[in-house]
Amino acid sequence: MSRTVDLVDLDVPLPPGLRWQRLTIADHQQVCALHLASLEGIAASVVRREEPDFFAATLLGRGELAGVFHGPDMIAYTVLLRTMAVYDDPSPEWTPDPSMPLVKLAGSGVLQAWRGLGLQKAFIAQRVRMAGPQAQVFGTASPANQASWRNLLSGGFTLRAIKHMYGGSPRFIGVRLPHQPPAGGAEPSATDVELDCFDTEGQQHLMRQGWQGVAVGAGPNRIRYRRVQPPEATP
Ligand SMILES: CC(C)(COP(=O)(O)OP(=O)(O)OC[C@H]1O[C@@H](n2cnc3c(N)ncnc32)[C@H](O)[C@@H]1OP(=O)(O)O)[C@@H](O)C(=O)NCCC(=O)NCCS
Repeated sequence: MSRTVDLVDLDVPLPPGLRWQRLTIADHQQVCALHLASLEGIAASVVRREEPDFFAATLLGRGELAGVFHGPDMIAYTVLLRTMAVYDDPSPEWTPDPSMPLVKLAGSGVLQAWRGLGLQKAFIAQRVRMAGPQAQVFGTASPANQASWRNLLSGGFTLRAIKHMYGGSPRFIGVRLPHQPPAGGAEPSATDVELDCFDTEGQQHLMRQGWQGVAVGAGPNRIRYRRVQPPEATP
């Protein structure tokens, strides 16, 4: 399958001693093993298990994979998806603009010993660069995966919806649109409200009225919500 996109450099800074490497089909077995190792002890309802075929198809053209290496060892990987499956569809809870490219942040794994160093944050920043300046970028995160939704918020994504996906588990839909300033660093406003990440009904109620999760709140499970004007209503 031929590529239709230019590959951008893997140049988001990493902690000392680690290096990026774009993955190819030659890395297929290693990335499948790393995927399983990174999921040890995590419930299937919290992080989606991928089959080896998913990684093969992505490496062969559905998307791109990048690895992080320590010497010869791959210690973390991340996936950007350009050609999606039916189960990736975020609509109708969040409906992308059909006139713009759409890419998905489709998973990352970091071995236990290397967690907490900012690798997933680097993965989010790097994949936004790989997606290109015209793309709508979205990612999904379970409310029970605090690291993931906190990192999406820190990476300038806003939480637009909660959809039951991948066999019925709740997922935040985090979105970053071109030409919209990232909301994540926004100063708190007096009209913001904070909700618990597991309060699905409460959050959906706000989201349906045009509110978005814009930042982490005070406490590990708290999300700061803001009523966001639709772009067409912005002067
Ligand atoms: C989720 C995962 C990729 C995070 O990778 P990481 O490189 O350790 O993440 P980072 O160091 O970039 O980010 C750490 C952030 O997550 C938070 N975090 C990490 N683990 C956490 C936990 N168990 N509970 C709450 N917050 C957590 C940290 O507080 C930090 O946020 P802060 O900067 O706001 O304080 C890694 O834990 C992993 O591989 N998990 C298993 C697979 C998975 O969940 N993949 C993602 C879903 S696709």
